[in-house]
Amino acid sequence: MLTGRTEGALLRMLVRLTRARHILEIGLYTGYSALTMAEALPQDGQLISCDMNPETSSIAQSFFDRSPHGHKITIRLGPALDTLKAMPLDPVFDIAFLDADKENYCSYYELVLPRLKTGGLLVADNTLWSGKVVKPREPSDRALATFNELVQADPRVDNVLLTVRDGVMLARKR
Ligand SMILES: C[S@@+](CC[C@H](N)C(=O)[O-])C[C@H]1O[C@@H](n2cnc3c(N)ncnc32)[C@H](O)[C@@H]1O
Repeated sequence: MLTGRTEGALLRMLVRLTRARHILEIGLYTGYSALTMAEALPQDGQLISCDMNPETSSIAQSFFDRSPHGHKITIRLGPALDTLKAMPLDPVFDIAFLDADKENYCSYYELVLPRLKTGGLLVADNTLWSGKVVKPREPSDRALATFNELVQADPRVDNVLLTVRDGVMLARKR
């Protein structure tokens, strides 16, 4: 479920390169990617992570409580679509990382983009989906293929799909 060391190193690098201070994550699980990105944030940086699973979120919080970077992370518990819709429309985030249910990626994208600053970066995990986006069969295959097409055709962003791990889409807001 978790991103792991290679993608974690990429995420940390992106946070440092963009000098991000405010990060939004959709899909916390046990907190690996959140803590990895938080490590690269300045002391007053903030990361909001959305997840609907109270058990894995509480495990994540127990790791954050033991980390010198944990104070930068706030968990928002509940279905991420509801959490996003309730957020103000201000473009405050420098980076948004999508890594939750694949069927909702397009909806997350449309809700997150207005909340990203100009020049902000949207990072979406699993966009190759073990190659299944090439010949989609299951709903999750189709959802990710549709997401990739949406981003590729979107004049609001510049984008590139990295073949790191299971595919990482980068979309920079114009
Ligand atoms: C792949 S895991 C995230 C892994 C994490 N980013 C990491 O690298 O450590 C996906 C997470 O998305 C959460 N999730 C799935 N559907 C969701 C939804 N509709 N709203 C909020 N969270 C959701 C799951 O509970 C799970 O913890």
